Amino acid sequence: MELEAFCRQSRVVVVLGKGGVGKTTLTAALALAGARAGLDVLVVALDDSGDLPALFGRAEPFGYDEVLLAGCPKEPEDDAGQPQEAAPGAPRTGPAGGRVRARVVTSRAALLEYLDDHGLRRVSRRLVDSGALDVVSTAIPGIEEVLVLGKVKQLERERRADLILLDAPATGHAVTFLSSSEGLVDAARGGPLRQQAEQVVELLSDPTRCQALLVTLPEETPVNELVEAAYRLEDEVGVALGPVVVNGCYPELEGLETDPAVAARAAQEPEPDASYSGRLRRAAEFRLAKRVP
Ligand SMILES: Nc1ncnc2c1ncn2[C@@H]1O[C@H](COP(=O)(O)OP(=O)(O)OP(=O)(O)O)[C@@H](O)[C@H]1O
Ligand SMILES: [Mg+2]
Repeated sequence: MELEAFCRQSRVVVVLGKGGVGKTTLTAALALAGARAGLDVLVVALDDSGDLPALFGRAEPFGYDEVLLAGCPKEPEDDAGQPQEAAPGAPRTGPAGGRVRARVVTSRAALLEYLDDHGLRRVSRRLVDSGALDVVSTAIPGIEEVLVLGKVKQLERERRADLILLDAPATGHAVTFLSSSEGLVDAARGGPLRQQAEQVVELLSDPTRCQALLVTLPEETPVNELVEAAYRLEDEVGVALGPVVVNGCYPELEGLETDPAVAARAAQEPEPDASYSGRLRRAAEFRLAKRVP
């Protein structure tokens, strides 16, 4: 599939996969690809931004406020009337309008913002500072997830970006995270919480608005986990599955099948001893297993 066409398919893409398979790296690469195609891309990290800042050459973790990472702003000014400049050293993107921003969304900050927006600023601080939110989260499973996904839904509805990339937690946790809203719809009889959960479910189950991008490595465990996650995402979340990305496939290298001793003789180099040969053979097998099919 054309990368650019994929970036334009839905406004929200949730990047999922087993821990360590390259979700954050892929999210960053996709963000830049989208920006180079002229899209205004917003990367959303949960809880903490992890390795994301480093991938864009930033030392500081991202927070709840958006950070402009790269790009040619559409307008010469941002919401606050300030001129928007690409960060020093940040790669310029292609067409005007293509840019990458990033931010973190946490349940606490999302709740504070929600209450503030609804005229409950004084209550909200007390609720969070007193630890009452923790009590509520334990009593109402799924509330934290709905707060976070509700914020993503709000960003999508307000057209705050052409493409919102969500760097999701590792698969097992991610399926629970995405399916919590459905559970809350069933549990809550009415009120704003149920409405929020319903709207999140609507977003997740609309393929024109949201899809899941599954990432794996060309190895048995991550592939098995991906297959299981794909079924669960369809059954339990109802989210559309985008293409699968097999990360860490390396191009063909000549000569990996050749025995190290034979290769050394052909190159007129001293023959490696048995232990070194064994290690070279194992390294070659490992590398061969990661060839692009
Ligand atoms: N194609 C690749 N080639 C080489 N290194 C890679 C590649 N993809 C990812 N990495 C490296 O692998 C490590 C894990 O990648 P990344 O942080 O993107 O994974 P993740 O799935 O987001 O991990 P986590 O589940 O911990 O959030 C990083 O050190 C990253 O630089
Ligand atoms: Mg990550």
